[in-house]
Amino acid sequence: MKDVYLNGHFLPADQAQVSVFDRGFLLGDGVYEVIPVYDGHCFELEAHLNRLQYSLDGVRMKNPMTPHQWQTMIAELVARNGGGDQSLYLQVTRGVAPRDHIFPIGVEPTAFAMSNPLQAVPEKYKQNGIKAITLADIRWANCNIKAITLLPNSLLKQQAQEAGAQEALLIRDGYLTEGAASNAYVVLDGTIYTSPKDEKVLPGITREVVIKLALENGIPLLEQAVTEQQLRQADEIWMSSSTKEVLPITELDHDAVGDGKPGPVWKQIDRLYQQYKKSIG
Ligand SMILES: Cc1ncc(COP(=O)(O)O)c(C=O)c1O
Repeated sequence: MKDVYLNGHFLPADQAQVSVFDRGFLLGDGVYEVIPVYDGHCFELEAHLNRLQYSLDGVRMKNPMTPHQWQTMIAELVARNGGGDQSLYLQVTRGVAPRDHIFPIGVEPTAFAMSNPLQAVPEKYKQNGIKAITLADIRWANCNIKAITLLPNSLLKQQAQEAGAQEALLIRDGYLTEGAASNAYVVLDGTIYTSPKDEKVLPGITREVVIKLALENGIPLLEQAVTEQQLRQADEIWMSSSTKEVLPITELDHDAVGDGKPGPVWKQIDRLYQQYKKSIG
């Protein structure tokens, strides 16, 4: 049994308990982070802790720990769970209080962390690409906050899975926003397009790395949303997330994207991404 961290203590996962009055359980009142761990080292930890603070600020919630305390706790949890490659979750809720929409006063947040073995990205997804379907973006108006309230994302992913696809690409007001659990990219005439950082998308940490690598290597990239029509004319489509890295989407709504194979721009970015991962390990 893996250890987890809960409110200042490390304990076996099956012994960790949270009150039924926790606002995370009753109201979905919390935020979270997912951090990939490679060979015992957290990837882009500072950026993830900064985004956690950004999400906490976005929902007016106190950070239960300083960045240094998070780092120390995370290092211990990763070591307790055997190092290697892990996916690490941090969850913070507004704490335990009698049920009420109004924020409780003087209540400590609940802080929880767990890590599991990182599932390697299936090689066939990189060789052949994945399938996606388009769906209406039914989420709320603050998708820049990484909230634990994931019911819309869950409904969208389930619908994609039932359609035989691995991801849903979301359309809002005629524009592609992002995936149900990923940022999205479109390549048109050699330029990469990804939605700008605003309240319609999560500011993905993997997205930041992709942008940095593209710009450093002279690959044209614009932080600009594409229309649904442009999406359907794309030469390449990709998705990115911390645990899936950058994956090519080669089938959209049962039609081939470009020539139906992972494209040359994705291959270049994936190579740079793998090099970057190794260089900071
Ligand atoms: C809706 C959404 N957008 C984007 C991402 C990608 O973010 P990151 O690269 O930080 O994992 C995720 C990751 O889970 C997500 O759920």
